[in-house]
Amino acid sequence: MCGIFGCILKDGIAAPVIHSSLKRLEYRGYDSVGIATIENGKIFIKKDQGKIDEVHKILNLDDMPGSLGIGHTRWATHGAPLKINSHPHVDCKGEIVAVHNGIIENFSELKLELQNLGHVFISKTDTEVIPHLIEEIMKNNPKLAFANAVQEAIKRLEGSFALAVISSREPDKIVCARNESPLVLGISDNGIFCASDIPAFLAMTNKAVMINNGELIVLTQSGYQIKKISDGSIVDRSPETIEWTAEMAVKKGYPHFMIKEIHEQPETLRNTLRLQDHYLDLLSTFLDRATEVFLVACGTSYHACLAASYMFSKLAFLPTYPVYASEFIEQHGKSVNIDSTILAVSQSGETADTIAAVTCAQQRAATILSLTNVIGSTLTRISRVYIGTQAGPEIGVAATKTFTSQLSVLAQLALRLAKKRGKVSQDEIDTLELQLDKLPAIVDTIVSTQEEKVKEIAKKYANSKVFFFLGRGISTATAFEGRLKLMEIAYIPSIAFPAGESKHGPISLVENGFPVVFVCQKDDTHKTVIGNIMEMKARGARIISVVEEGDEDIKALSDDYVEVPKGIPGVLSPIPFAVPLQLLAYYVSLERKYNPDMPRNLAKSVTVK
Ligand code: F6R
Repeated sequence: MCGIFGCILKDGIAAPVIHSSLKRLEYRGYDSVGIATIENGKIFIKKDQGKIDEVHKILNLDDMPGSLGIGHTRWATHGAPLKINSHPHVDCKGEIVAVHNGIIENFSELKLELQNLGHVFISKTDTEVIPHLIEEIMKNNPKLAFANAVQEAIKRLEGSFALAVISSREPDKIVCARNESPLVLGISDNGIFCASDIPAFLAMTNKAVMINNGELIVLTQSGYQIKKISDGSIVDRSPETIEWTAEMAVKKGYPHFMIKEIHEQPETLRNTLRLQDHYLDLLSTFLDRATEVFLVACGTSYHACLAASYMFSKLAFLPTYPVYASEFIEQHGKSVNIDSTILAVSQSGETADTIAAVTCAQQRAATILSLTNVIGSTLTRISRVYIGTQAGPEIGVAATKTFTSQLSVLAQLALRLAKKRGKVSQDEIDTLELQLDKLPAIVDTIVSTQEEKVKEIAKKYANSKVFFFLGRGISTATAFEGRLKLMEIAYIPSIAFPAGESKHGPISLVENGFPVVFVCQKDDTHKTVIGNIMEMKARGARIISVVEEGDEDIKALSDDYVEVPKGIPGVLSPIPFAVPLQLLAYYVSLERKYNPDMPRNLAKSVTVK
């Protein structure tokens, strides 16, 4: 998730407008910033790594000539957050300049093709292929208009993008386009804007034109023209009036970041499915060679590790040991060695316990691999290989979209390893990959069909003194995550156990009306889960279950239930099954009149640069 912005003003200098608009998009990424403007056919660029204010202090982003320009604030996905990887990116001659939000999946192939044609690349980003591709098309068709060259280039891109491109050859226009990543136009009396999100221009205008997937827009001082990328046909769309305040706009109209981020999960999951193959290959090669593998993390990320230990075992027949980072040094500090492999998982890449555990293992010559949402974080710097989880910045303190992203990446890793090790039939792998591809749509269905039901359940149980969360097999991890979410934002003491373990002590707490949440994925554990539900019911517990559609046995035993679509394989189940539990925590928190975005005593780890 990055932020892009462009503007053409009738009166005034573009750079300060771009600078202040990028500030309002900084919630979308803050690894680097860059601005390009044009005056008298000459291009000016300023860019560097770091937060906007830091870069502005050194470069003075307001001091650039021209009434037309584009800008970018970056959340690194390809290439470290360094100056050379900062947008805008240019072609060989510096005549075509692009900013981009999204992931170009086929950039490696395109880059190679263009390099073979003599193009010189400066950065490690996927974006840089865009100006070079346009340059190549214009070189081969000198009479082609700039917008048409952009259109031709876009046809070759696979993946997601919102982009804005300018050229010194036609210095009066910005060409922008959208596929999956967000893009919207703002129309004011003094100019026209394109941006990743409405807050970027809301201070200047509340007239917006929404851009759909597959559309290309030519902006000039006199207005905008929208075309379909596929056939160039003109689309007629008028501006609409946005009634949101700036604060509402940043949250896209949602009352809290947490619920916005829960709703973003179909999109973030789609992004995780765009991981570059070679990263997965590299990481799975290291895991394949490992003698012992520790999965190290804190909090929600630890729950992702716990789920991953089931995935690695079931799919790749690889034993792994999930360990709380805060316990790692005491538990394994002396025994880790050159044969040990650590796969550390951290949203922020900065959590002190995780960094301490990894540093200890590194000093003992262990191999450090990691998964993080923040490229350029401390964890990425001390890892031999890392993968970005592609969830974009998470502003709500309670982790939601980053949890499901971590799970999706870990599932892909486990599948890649399964392939390498040949332990699972190709048929089974194909089926699981297909199911993984369906998860964004499945999560979409869960959020859109079950949210009201979860609200009702939250109302009913919001005054409970304590909650139990139980699951068997991989759902133990989901149950643990459900408990953590409820405790941290609704402040209800909660207990989670593997369901089979509950009868070895915890069950003694159960009395009439005691709410027990069961996570009931449909796999080999299903029959035994029914037994556990009966045990709880016999002691007066009220059963709230997360079940598959059509799971009538469990529904019949439940006082309340939330449904997820049918046919989700057990190893992938934590991704969709976690979503109703996130919603439950959110709505119980609201019922109890708390602010779910601001859990007491907690703060999000931030990247320290
Ligand atoms: C829970 C939560 C925390 C984090 C934990 C680890 O909602 O946000 O439990 O999961 O502090 O943080 P990262 O993943 O940044 O290492």
